[in-house]
Amino acid sequence: MLAAELGELHASNVSPGRGGVSFQGDFSLLYRANLYMRTAIRVLRPILEVSVTTPEELYDAVQTLDWARFMTPEHTLAVDANVRDSTITHSKYAALKVKDAICDQFVAKCGKRPSVDVEEPMVGLNLHIYKNQAVLSLDSSGESLHKRGYRPILTKAPLNEALAAGLILLTGWRGETALVDPMCGSGTLCIEAAWIALNRPPGLTRRRFGFMGWMDFDVSLWTQVRDQARAEVRKKLPQPIVGSDERRDAIAYSQQNARAAGIGHLLRFEAKDLRAFRLPAGPPGVLICNPPYGERIGEEKDLVPLYRDMGKVFRERCPGWRVFVFTGNAFLARQLGMKPTNQIHLFNGRIPCRLLEFQV
Ligand SMILES: C[S@@+](CC[C@H](N)C(=O)[O-])C[C@H]1O[C@@H](n2cnc3c(N)ncnc32)[C@H](O)[C@@H]1O
Repeated sequence: MLAAELGELHASNVSPGRGGVSFQGDFSLLYRANLYMRTAIRVLRPILEVSVTTPEELYDAVQTLDWARFMTPEHTLAVDANVRDSTITHSKYAALKVKDAICDQFVAKCGKRPSVDVEEPMVGLNLHIYKNQAVLSLDSSGESLHKRGYRPILTKAPLNEALAAGLILLTGWRGETALVDPMCGSGTLCIEAAWIALNRPPGLTRRRFGFMGWMDFDVSLWTQVRDQARAEVRKKLPQPIVGSDERRDAIAYSQQNARAAGIGHLLRFEAKDLRAFRLPAGPPGVLICNPPYGERIGEEKDLVPLYRDMGKVFRERCPGWRVFVFTGNAFLARQLGMKPTNQIHLFNGRIPCRLLEFQV
């Protein structure tokens, strides 16, 4: 899905890899990738790729770069590291070595060193070591891109925004029919769907991206990219998007989140039990939901009647609709009593889940 998003942005050499997709492009693409991508968590710009077996080798490798190309002693920096299956085992220590190598180089050259700001560094660095292959990158995103900024309140088990957008994109829906989520929780699927239908980039209301602290930040190019994105946002949804949930507080959160996402006037949310749920009038569309799936012992049994009722509602009230259920529990999914026409395996954090599709 991420590779497809990059293809739409006309990135070159798009290559899906382990836990990420690599691609090439210019600064305009880097800005657009951060602004437009719905399923990305961060966009990294690799500046050093080297094989290392000890922290000292890592330190030496980092010192081979001329850091004056990327920052001055007046800049703040932070290094985020993750290490897997390597002889260097401590990510914090590896991060410290990178920071020391950079600071020592500045001290040797000009007697001053950049300071560390872990909250909002002007230059954020990401170190990834896998099987002794280190990749050091400038983090062009800063705070994770899934944090869109519209969901300050966390309700029970909300979906990560990037995952929610990915689920919608995987259904193939782009706004041409109605979309409903009868178990909408904090409204994430409805909000992400609305942004897709409106062609509204997820990064449009974001305050800051990592690249804004870089020495080569091109403000006028960024302004041009952002203004063009703004101009291309549709004002109205072509078809209705409706969310409902049995919990009144969830509906209040959904409404609040939709307002924060700038689309409160376009979405409809209703407090309603799934069993009382009615589809909007008009041609069949897409129903998508993320029901509770009982992660704790004992919950599974209690949820059997809910899944059975869901199956009944889908079969009886949704003829012609494409129904998608995202769940982490195969036993409960079977209680729907319907045979999926397609299923896609995904992870919700660490939980293996499936997006099941039913053609009713
Ligand atoms: C896993 S949460 C959904 C989270 C949502 N996708 C989000 O991002 O916030 C499951 C939701 O199903 C709702 N739910 C459970 N039983 C229900 C029922 N019988 N009718 C309607 N909603 C129900 C819960 O209130 C909860 O908000």
